[in-house]
Amino acid sequence: MTRHILITGGAGFIAGNLVHHWAAAHPNDNLVVLDALTYAGNRATIEPLIAAGQIRFVEGDIGDRTLVDVLLAEHAITHIAHLAAESHVDRSISGPAAFLSTNVGGTFTLLEAFRTHWLAAGSPASWRFLHVSTDEVFGSLEPSDPPFNETTAYAPRSPYAASKAASDHLARAWQHTYGLPVLVSNCSNNYGPFHFPEKLIPLTLINILLGRPIPVYGDGANVRDWLFVEDHCRALERILLSGEPGHTYCIGGNNEVSNLDLVHQLCDLVDELASDQGLALPQRPSRELIRFVTDRPGHDRRYAIDASHIREALGWEPRVTVSEGLRRTVAWYLANRSWWEPLLSDDYSAYLVGQYAGQLS
Ligand code: NAD
Ligand code: TYD
Repeated sequence: MTRHILITGGAGFIAGNLVHHWAAAHPNDNLVVLDALTYAGNRATIEPLIAAGQIRFVEGDIGDRTLVDVLLAEHAITHIAHLAAESHVDRSISGPAAFLSTNVGGTFTLLEAFRTHWLAAGSPASWRFLHVSTDEVFGSLEPSDPPFNETTAYAPRSPYAASKAASDHLARAWQHTYGLPVLVSNCSNNYGPFHFPEKLIPLTLINILLGRPIPVYGDGANVRDWLFVEDHCRALERILLSGEPGHTYCIGGNNEVSNLDLVHQLCDLVDELASDQGLALPQRPSRELIRFVTDRPGHDRRYAIDASHIREALGWEPRVTVSEGLRRTVAWYLANRSWWEPLLSDDYSAYLVGQYAGQLS
């Protein structure tokens, strides 16, 4: 069966990586990307695939029902990998409305449009809707708590997490009530190529390369479970191809690192790789750029994922260690200035000024 796959948010970080991964692994599948090209969307991420005719790109909003209906019918979509979202916790604190609109309203529209399209085709059992979510829906862990798994109760604590939790509930309800073949995944923090420089890792790398201060919230002891994005894409591929509709899959890197430790590793790696390449950095050692800034309101202390279900059910486990993944990420940002430099717009500078309230000078 030829798969006709709609990837939403495909000009963003994770879905952009997924588009590259899928196009290489399954060249006979038809791939269509729907992306509104918000500040976080970057067509350049997938431009080579668009130019080569390997994928179709549609600029538009997942909340536009008419557009989505036409797109599903025109491209005879059989699978949806739904990743379009507002994704940054800090922006959800300063402006939650877009999170409700896209993450909740947009997911509702996609589910309804896909349900109508699926019913019209006679409810094929082989079709799939993969709703991609986050571990942040589970709340925050104390240092001695066991990691989150598929049975952990939802306890979202930021507007972003609450909007993703709401969309997860919708996705599950559409499976339970209407029998739509929906699967849900909850993943830990990703890192790797094509990551917009508002998130901790790309922000740190770009600030080092520009000789700007590196903002660390609070005491830097918050812990995240970091997963290289390519491993996440392999997990999503496994779930879409072999997952059980109605099931949830927790995906994690088994890599708990504190923010300060992570930033130290990044500083040391940039110093090392820049030396190897004969590249002069504006400030050395890079660790001198670290600044402790006002903490994020309601900052979750620790996230961690127990990924044993997806390992046992689908044979997935991460392949890239954190030291290898960080090295590859640093090398990518050093080699791909032409990807990230155009992102440093006036809007981006204004965002930094608002977010860090002058603490980065
Ligand atoms: P991102 O912010 O990099 O990309 C989001 C993409 O969605 C952008 O290209 C943007 O233009 C597009 N988009 C936003 N609103 C849209 C709309 N209304 N219609 C169409 N397109 C729209 O996000 P990301 O970090 O790649 O995250 C992708 C998904 O994975 C999200 O659902 C997020 O919740 C989830 N997730 C992210 C992480 C992480 O560490 N980044 C971890 C777990 C889960
Ligand atoms: P982030 O990359 O925003 O991901 P999330 O909030 O989804 O986990 O942040 C990762 C961690 O880094 C989180 O604990 C917040 C912290 N952080 C900083 O310390 N400084 C920063 O400037 C940013 C953006 C994040």
